[in-house]
Amino acid sequence: MLQLYSKHMEILAVVGTCFIMWNILSFLLFLYSMIQQYVIPCLLSRTKHLRQYGEWAVVTGATSGIGKAYAEELASYGVNIILISRNPEKLKNVSEAITATYGVKTRFVVADFSLGRKVYPDIKEALKDVDVGILVNNAGASNDYPQFTTEVPEDKLWEMININVAAAVMMVHIVLPGMVQRKRGAIVNVSSGTCCKPTPLLSVYSSTKSFIDHFSQGLHYEYASKGIFIQSLITYFVKTNLTELGKFLKSKPYFVLETKEYAHQAVRTIGISQRTAGHLSHSIQED
Ligand SMILES: NC(=O)c1ccc[n+]([C@@H]2O[C@H](COP(=O)([O-])OP(=O)(O)OC[C@H]3O[C@@H](n4cnc5c(N)ncnc54)[C@H](OP(=O)(O)O)[C@@H]3O)[C@@H](O)[C@H]2O)c1
Repeated sequence: MLQLYSKHMEILAVVGTCFIMWNILSFLLFLYSMIQQYVIPCLLSRTKHLRQYGEWAVVTGATSGIGKAYAEELASYGVNIILISRNPEKLKNVSEAITATYGVKTRFVVADFSLGRKVYPDIKEALKDVDVGILVNNAGASNDYPQFTTEVPEDKLWEMININVAAAVMMVHIVLPGMVQRKRGAIVNVSSGTCCKPTPLLSVYSSTKSFIDHFSQGLHYEYASKGIFIQSLITYFVKTNLTELGKFLKSKPYFVLETKEYAHQAVRTIGISQRTAGHLSHSIQED
């Protein structure tokens, strides 16, 4: 009886040791990944790196929130910016402010991605012969509030599909051939933390973000060997119009980043992390 007991204890000790070793290994891998994603980029000059992709960056949804912060952050490295959104007045104001602050060239294209196929010929024309080094597929739409899928208005469903999915695919289709020809380029596709798990009451939104994550990983396998860097950016909470209504976020402000602090770190991961939360605090939330 005593022998059987000590045998059990030995087995438990081996299982316990394996469990502890597994956790230590996971922690060390996490630490390594954090150093690689967030510490090393701080030690390297990113200016030369970001400018080597090409003269211009195209940012969709660049008039507010994360897109605007990305446009400003990229401009701070001397990259010229092409902004794409719906509202000409906002586009003009943001473009002028970027040129005045960072001394880079800016252009803008007015496009409403919710309208589907008809907006792309104009975008294609506007980007013809432009040395686009970086594309940030950022424009996005979400539910106005969490709701059952059958209660979401049909227009809102199409909006999410057209803006989150179709626009990202079409922008890649427009910009990527030039990048491949020049053998350089980087594409950042803005996904979301909701991509990784089913998210009831935001089912369509989270599924569109899963598409973006999956799409980005597939593109990476297709185009990495052609000199193109593709990133799936798995963003968590950032303070923007999109998250304005979230009561949960108001009660947990430490989870929520300002757009500028998010973009500052996320832009540094371009060329480094193929799939990232973009900010150390978001990576910790993710883990
Ligand atoms: N904020 C977060 O916590 C969070 C978390 C995870 C993922 N994300 C993702 O991050 C991205 C940016 O979101 P955000 O929070 O920065 O949102 P935001 O502040 O609402 O900005 C959205 C941007 O997209 C543009 N836009 C909206 N509808 C458009 C349309 N139909 N056609 C063209 N442009 C359009 C808006 O400009 P106009 O109104 O001037 O057109 C604006 O510049 C989205 O893809 C979102 O899913 C955000």
